[in-house]
Amino acid sequence: MKILVIGSGGREHALIWKIRQSSKVTELYCAPGNVGIADLATCVPINPDNVQELLKFAADNQIDLTVVGPEAPLALGIVDAFKREGLRAFGPTKEAAALESSKSFAKDFCNRYKIPAARSQTFTDIVSAKAYIKGHPLPIVVKADGLAAGKGVIICDSHDKAEKIAEEMLLEGSFGDSGRCVVVEEFLEGEEASFIAICDGNHVLPMVGSQDHKPAYDEDKGPNTGGMGAISPARVLTEEIADKVMNEIMLPAARGMVTEGMPFVGVLYAGLMIKDGEVKVLEFNVRFGDPETQALLARLKMDIVDVFEAAISGTLNTVSMSWDPRPAVCVVMASGGYPGSYEKGKVISGIADANALDDVVVFHAGTKDDSGNVVTNGGRVLGVTALGDDMRSAIAKAYEATEKISWDGVHYRKDIGKKAL
Ligand code: AMP
Ligand code: GLY
Repeated sequence: MKILVIGSGGREHALIWKIRQSSKVTELYCAPGNVGIADLATCVPINPDNVQELLKFAADNQIDLTVVGPEAPLALGIVDAFKREGLRAFGPTKEAAALESSKSFAKDFCNRYKIPAARSQTFTDIVSAKAYIKGHPLPIVVKADGLAAGKGVIICDSHDKAEKIAEEMLLEGSFGDSGRCVVVEEFLEGEEASFIAICDGNHVLPMVGSQDHKPAYDEDKGPNTGGMGAISPARVLTEEIADKVMNEIMLPAARGMVTEGMPFVGVLYAGLMIKDGEVKVLEFNVRFGDPETQALLARLKMDIVDVFEAAISGTLNTVSMSWDPRPAVCVVMASGGYPGSYEKGKVISGIADANALDDVVVFHAGTKDDSGNVVTNGGRVLGVTALGDDMRSAIAKAYEATEKISWDGVHYRKDIGKKAL
């Protein structure tokens, strides 16, 4: 089979690494990929949101299966466009991708199908938004409706701040079209976890649990990022809670999407808040998490291509997933300054030494080749991923590997997985 993966982050490197292990693959491409991916696949310089060029590439090269990493091309309708040309792409249609690309759609959907989520209301008009904000307790959460690369959620500890954020989104276009509509939501307390499942429209095949570490600095301080590290499993996702998530969230969501006339095929990722045995959805994503995927795929012990094919053909009920019982930890190494401004082009050393350790794999994200040197080229640069006999040794291994890698200005959290101990 000829397979194309779309994207250039650590998540896509992990997908390529896993797909490369499949005996079914003859040729593997990634658009646009990165330096690490280039060791395993042919990188094609087409951006993920250039649907027309990706379609042309897939048609010209007779790609048998396309796996879409990021949300943007899904929201642009890449799966629909491929289907119209008779090409197989793994992911939801544009309509179904609204579960992530429109928070107001997702909130209304949860209400319609009684999926537990934070109480909220949606506004396009600032006067009503302000009145609602004034009448609700603090902290209060203001969210841009559309895609905002993980930056569109603001937790406000004063009514003035919440009103100001709503004003910036609705009147000043601080999030462009994504903020034309805002969701104002009750603040939920508890422990977060990621519940990621593969869906074929009718069946939901859950992966093992995982947890992201969103804030930039240790002890969950600092601004939210795309994710500074991940672990799998997540202790808080006990068997009992996982059953509850399936019965109260994932299965009702899959059935709801069928009822809405847009069966969900692809990755359904529920960001959860868990407290006192109760679970609520913070958000739905319609693609693999980054960096959760790096930790998850390090544990997956089967051919992932079988899963993608079964999802597309509606036969996921015939597949079961097999997992390494050992925990995995992914430490994200970032450019100093991320998620704010940062410098690029710093020469990275030590990747090969880290990769040489047993049960360690270094996934590339923002890297590029500069005359034979691997240099930094983004905010999140590497995801150093390790397995260990228990969580403590997985953490120790991941940091042993991380410490072999350096560049001028590198930043990483020193406490990934600590809460799980
Ligand atoms: P989202 O993109 O909606 O998942 O939001 C990003 C992050 O903001 C989440 O992972 C949470 O850490 C936080 N967040 C979002 N909504 C809420 C909420 N209602 N209560 C508390 N934290 C939230
Ligand atoms: N790790 C968070 C996300 O992928 O959205």
